[in-house]
Amino acid sequence: MDSPLRLGIAGLGTVGASVVRLIETHNDALAAQLSRRISVVAVSARKRERPRGLKIDRYDWHDDPVSLARSNSIDVFVELIGGGDDGPARSSIRAALKTGKSVVTANKALLARQGVKLAKLAEERGAQLSFEAAVGGGIPIIKTLREALAGNRLTRLYGILNGTCNFILTRMEGGANYADALKEAQKLGYAEADPSFDVEGLDAAQKLTILTSVAFGTEIDRETTFVEGISSIEPEDIAAADELGYRIKLLAVAQRTESGIEQRVHPTMVPRDCDIARISGVTNAVAVEGDFIGAVMLSGPGAGGDATASAVVGDIVDLARGVRMPPLGRPAASLEPYRRAPMRAHEGGYYLRLKIQDRPGAFAAIARRMADAGISLHSVLQRNRPIGSAPKRSAEEVQPVTIITHSTTEETMRSVLSKMESEGEVHGRPKMIRIEAL
Ligand SMILES: NC(=O)c1ccc[n+]([C@@H]2O[C@H](COP(=O)([O-])OP(=O)(O)OC[C@H]3O[C@@H](n4cnc5c(N)ncnc54)[C@H](OP(=O)(O)O)[C@@H]3O)[C@@H](O)[C@H]2O)c1
Repeated sequence: MDSPLRLGIAGLGTVGASVVRLIETHNDALAAQLSRRISVVAVSARKRERPRGLKIDRYDWHDDPVSLARSNSIDVFVELIGGGDDGPARSSIRAALKTGKSVVTANKALLARQGVKLAKLAEERGAQLSFEAAVGGGIPIIKTLREALAGNRLTRLYGILNGTCNFILTRMEGGANYADALKEAQKLGYAEADPSFDVEGLDAAQKLTILTSVAFGTEIDRETTFVEGISSIEPEDIAAADELGYRIKLLAVAQRTESGIEQRVHPTMVPRDCDIARISGVTNAVAVEGDFIGAVMLSGPGAGGDATASAVVGDIVDLARGVRMPPLGRPAASLEPYRRAPMRAHEGGYYLRLKIQDRPGAFAAIARRMADAGISLHSVLQRNRPIGSAPKRSAEEVQPVTIITHSTTEETMRSVLSKMESEGEVHGRPKMIRIEAL
């Protein structure tokens, strides 16, 4: 047996405690695979006395994760505290890398902000920085992009990166309204008391920026992602999508285009029979398209202590085997600057839900306006009052119209919608959902 790989684990919450349990449970099997033991030797958390279902007395205790990160008694520092720029996660990771120790982390918030800087520091000090668990929980998407698909020129990736949103949308397909679906997600522990980070798409956006960097060899850019959340989705949209052969997903998409890379997170209509449409509940999925592979999709648990621990331990096993590679897939100094494709240049089909006046010619005016802008209509759902029904109560009565368009640009679509509004051709704000061609 080679010498053991000695771990210091900072953070013993949902993920940290599962990592310790996994290593204790599979210690002999891992040793047999690796010809060396993986040993937790020291840990750090906020409150030593907190019950965790672990025998932590057998490990050295550090009140301060930075002191653990610097300790000579460990080979690898595992950061599972969480938090962004200014907390103990960042200072302890930097301390470990500066002493040449490799780091395993699940911290998407920190990587989205500091990933390139940390990768450079790791490379300078001859250390590894591994973060499989930071995106997609247990789904091995970082390894897939960085290693298995390295031979491809990747063109697009898209995924369901937030289980909370997918759970809510799945419940809405079952008939719930948004507020009730959110309440249920909170009751089950899938959504926080303040759900805005998840439902407004910010969590998925953070993860997307990391994937974009690894997939396309660009610096991480978290400032310019286009983000729209799911809180404006109404049961009428879910029902119309179903009737027209689509499902609505919060999709995170990164795509090469002629004008740069699109990085966007928004509610998206996807054809009901495509693979990603079938991902329901809290499950996550990521699909990747490349020139030689065609398309691949990975799906699985995107969160939860045990699934995330599986990804963390996968990284630790790589370190035990001596696997070395640039954290972001290529040397950090050779990452290209992220060139943002402006959202107004985005091209795709659109779903529109409009309220128009119930009078002859109202729809014709809208159809003409679209035609004048070069937008062709794919399908239209219009519910007229049944022939023979009671006469209209007022000239102001409105009726809903749902339209699916063929591909056009975001700029054209926005300009047409704003003209319809300013000319009084529609009542209220039109609802617009982008359609992804899959
Ligand atoms: N939970 C998931 O499903 C999931 C999935 C993917 C990625 N992640 C990522 O994994 C990381 C950990 O998440 P989690 O859900 O396990 O968080 P958590 O349950 O809140 O655990 C955080 C741990 O950090 C400890 N901690 C907080 N401040 C500390 C400090 N100043 N010094 C030392 N320890 C400190 C806490 O100590 P006490 O226990 O004493 O309070 C706790 O043990 C985050 O980056 C998160 O984004 C989580």
